[in-house]
Amino acid sequence: MVKTIEFVDGKVRMLDQTRLPLEVVYVDCTDYHMVAEGIKKLRIRGAPAIGIAAAMGIALGARDVRAADFDEFMNGLEPVFQTLLATRPTAVNIQWAVERAKKLLSEKRHEPVDRLKELLVEDAKKVLEEDIQINRAIGRWGAQFIRDGDTVITHCNAGSLATGGYGTATGPIRVAVEQGKKIQVYADETRPVLQGCRLTAWELMQDNIPVTLITDNTAGALLRKGEINLAIVGTDRTVANGDVANKIGTYSLAVLCKENGVPFYVAAPLSSIDFSIPSGDLIPIEERGPEEVTHVFGCRIAPEGVRVRNIAFDVTPARYVTGIITEKGVFRPGDLHLLNEKDADLEAVMLKPGE
Ligand code: MRU
Repeated sequence: MVKTIEFVDGKVRMLDQTRLPLEVVYVDCTDYHMVAEGIKKLRIRGAPAIGIAAAMGIALGARDVRAADFDEFMNGLEPVFQTLLATRPTAVNIQWAVERAKKLLSEKRHEPVDRLKELLVEDAKKVLEEDIQINRAIGRWGAQFIRDGDTVITHCNAGSLATGGYGTATGPIRVAVEQGKKIQVYADETRPVLQGCRLTAWELMQDNIPVTLITDNTAGALLRKGEINLAIVGTDRTVANGDVANKIGTYSLAVLCKENGVPFYVAAPLSSIDFSIPSGDLIPIEERGPEEVTHVFGCRIAPEGVRVRNIAFDVTPARYVTGIITEKGVFRPGDLHLLNEKDADLEAVMLKPGE
């Protein structure tokens, strides 16, 4: 499985996903500005992966802060936090990484500043390792819902490339394959940035998982013909009521699934769940520049001067979501809030196959 990001020799090495699948090129980021630029330009993308990149960017930024004590150190880190937070607004994982770093530092506030800097590097590496384990757990829970012979549709890329490895939406697919189930995957190409075409199709082919690429417009026809058994997608931010923000086009796919009686699952690590927001209407949605729509790989495909709207994410209301696959189990969207309650009996409300 290809490595998306790692912290090596005091640098953050990221696979430049804008060049895939034509070239496999890594970029070494030597400071946090380079990490922030990598996130903005989609060299690294996918909610968990940008959370990991943010944790590593914080560790790089901290290295260059000159401070005599804890308070000075925290003040010096503020521009690092703000720069990373300003890169992409929809995925909650950057905020999650910033909060995790702040919590760690405040717990260790009595350590010398140099030790705090080391701790941030150690923790950033841990975030990466933990993410892979979380995806494997998501995979185990989710694979229960995939039967031998099923065809799964996915949208965008919520695979190894979008995470520390293994993937969230691809987790259940990978586990099902490891369990010997014969399954097929349809990958929506995912206009405009083509993450499904360039990334999902590529990474599944690398691992010999049967994948068929379709245009986004084809999903409805295949669902109507009964050729798809279930959908599994990722999320950038799922909120307390179970509404799900994910790559633009997810909502259309979810509505089509409901119309055709096909279960629609969302793979969501806890790092992508924002319990502080009650409804999807309050999720900040990123709009990106027009060139992603007017050009493909630098080649213009639209008339010069045309007006463009490039909304990067949409919100799928909870009523279209069959289950949310987390590392703690699979839950109906309406029960998601229980994950944030201390003594909730999660076992009792977990969604089981066939329900
Ligand atoms: O714009 P992107 O490529 O960062 O969008 C990515 C997605 O929408 C993914 O589905 C989501 O981040 C989940 S990744 C496990």
